[in-house]
Amino acid sequence: MSSSRIRGFYQLTLEERLEIVIHNKGLTDEETNILTGNKAFPMALADSMVENVIGQFSIPLGVAANFKINGNDVFVPMATEEPSVIAAASNAARAAYDLGGFFTSSTGTIMRGQIQVLDILDPHGAKARIYENKEEILANCNLQDPTLVKLGGGAKDLEVHLINTVRETMLVIHLIVDTKDAMGANAVNTMAEAVSPLIEKITGGRVVLKIITNLADKRLIRARGVFSAESLGGPEVVKNIVSAYEFADADPYRAATHNKGIMNGITSVVLATGNDTRAVEAGAHSYAAKSGRYRSLTTWEMNEEGNLVGSIELPMAVGIIGGATKTHPVAKAALKIMNVTSAVELAGIIASVGLAENAASLRALSAEGIQTGHMRLHAKNLAVMAGARKENIDLIVQKAVSEKDLRYDRILQITEEIQKEG
Ligand code: MEV
Repeated sequence: MSSSRIRGFYQLTLEERLEIVIHNKGLTDEETNILTGNKAFPMALADSMVENVIGQFSIPLGVAANFKINGNDVFVPMATEEPSVIAAASNAARAAYDLGGFFTSSTGTIMRGQIQVLDILDPHGAKARIYENKEEILANCNLQDPTLVKLGGGAKDLEVHLINTVRETMLVIHLIVDTKDAMGANAVNTMAEAVSPLIEKITGGRVVLKIITNLADKRLIRARGVFSAESLGGPEVVKNIVSAYEFADADPYRAATHNKGIMNGITSVVLATGNDTRAVEAGAHSYAAKSGRYRSLTTWEMNEEGNLVGSIELPMAVGIIGGATKTHPVAKAALKIMNVTSAVELAGIIASVGLAENAASLRALSAEGIQTGHMRLHAKNLAVMAGARKENIDLIVQKAVSEKDLRYDRILQITEEIQKEG
């Protein structure tokens, strides 16, 4: 396994970066052409994926460098329209690399499906009857997906919840299903629908909703990493990061933005792999509010050596089989680049990126503020628009940023001055 720790990866040309990834990951010509757009994404495929298709929408795909996860180096594909996100993840991962990188653990691949039962005269009696018939209900569910059962997955258990609503006590059955390497929505929804007549017979009630819950609290992923104080900018920055976390954990207004930054990283990888970004986001935000108050998804502490210890825990319903993960050619190439062999492994990578992204945001906010970095990128884009040659870009950006003047006219002027001299 070759190293993901590549100095100055961001300074390479697009072609050089691509060459490193192709070389390391053995991408075929076909995969390379689809990544670079040399081979168009087939319109017929787009037309078969969603409805009323009239075109396609492209988003840049980058790879984050410097990630070591559970001892393995990995390039992480990230699809995002937001500048700084991929650079930020790579920078923070570099600060963790020499201290071992990231370590992950998971609670497994269990999803919950909910079945809502109404009009029950004896909710407590119905609850008891459901538990008495548990084996028959689970067997009925498992008939729906013999392949999943053969792989060791399937409906494993159930829970009965009595939910007091404004008008009645509803009985809500949770099917507890191990969906293995699939995200699981199809498997769980099919089971919930199929078993509903049996549920009505047992409870005497009327089943209405039958659907997976995105609060996948039995499919948690955790990642941990130690980030070197020196790389982050010293002990003062570490202290500020810890207090930034304490702020987020205590104040939902700050927690929303703090977690948004985490999701900048997470959603980019989820999207790049063809997984359901909304499912993961709904899971993350609902889990952040599990205590009754919306809180930080991460924790940050300072250890004995003064380094920063970070951890993250959240639901991660992603798969590596089924849906767009298998039909979208870029998603397939993204999974190959990471060389993942299980959904749990993919979840660990995604959580590590979320943790790194948060470290990077808090570092920038606690030190120079994020605008400096943004200004640099903005100035770079404007310099390119103004016709700056590659060798002059850094100088033009430096001058514009030091003048704090990022109007296009001024950057054009600087570009002309510098290129006249050169
Ligand atoms: C911007 O997309 C994300 C940040 O606002 C996250 C944060 O404030 O922690 C920088």
